[in-house]
Amino acid sequence: MVAEQTSKIKAILETQRGRTITALSSLIAIQNAVGYLPPESMEEVASFTGVSVNDVWGVATFYTHFRHEPPLKHSVEVCWGPSCHLRGGDKVMENFKKLLGVVGEKSANNEVSFKGSSCLAACQQAPVIMANEELVGNVKPEQVQDIVNNLDKYGRHH
Ligand code: FES
Repeated sequence: MVAEQTSKIKAILETQRGRTITALSSLIAIQNAVGYLPPESMEEVASFTGVSVNDVWGVATFYTHFRHEPPLKHSVEVCWGPSCHLRGGDKVMENFKKLLGVVGEKSANNEVSFKGSSCLAACQQAPVIMANEELVGNVKPEQVQDIVNNLDKYGRHH
């Protein structure tokens, strides 16, 4: 499995030849292809780019964009920033947690990753959530059940 993963990563890196290659661009290519950065990525990127493994780890952990675990089927991010809070975001948050049965950062059925955000940069549409990779604005607490039931219809999911 590890060998399989390593050769997949090598193949992804090979597709980068002929471009400007950096540790960052290589890590992005892997995450785009695999959905996250398997641990083997660090050594492969280091040998591919000539950057030390430590420095590759530095890049991989600096950017919050990178995931270090396989993504779940869906993701939900609820904004709890001030604009959203003032317009009912706390009730939206509460309903998502209740309806998904959130424990830690996952739903009870292990299919949805869940997190709060301090601002999703769409305050004028508060309250705002991100369903998979789709921004949904003006969310009403009573709409949450419908969103949870229809997560397949939102954004890109894995
Ligand atoms: S505070 Fe919620 S999007 Fe900015």
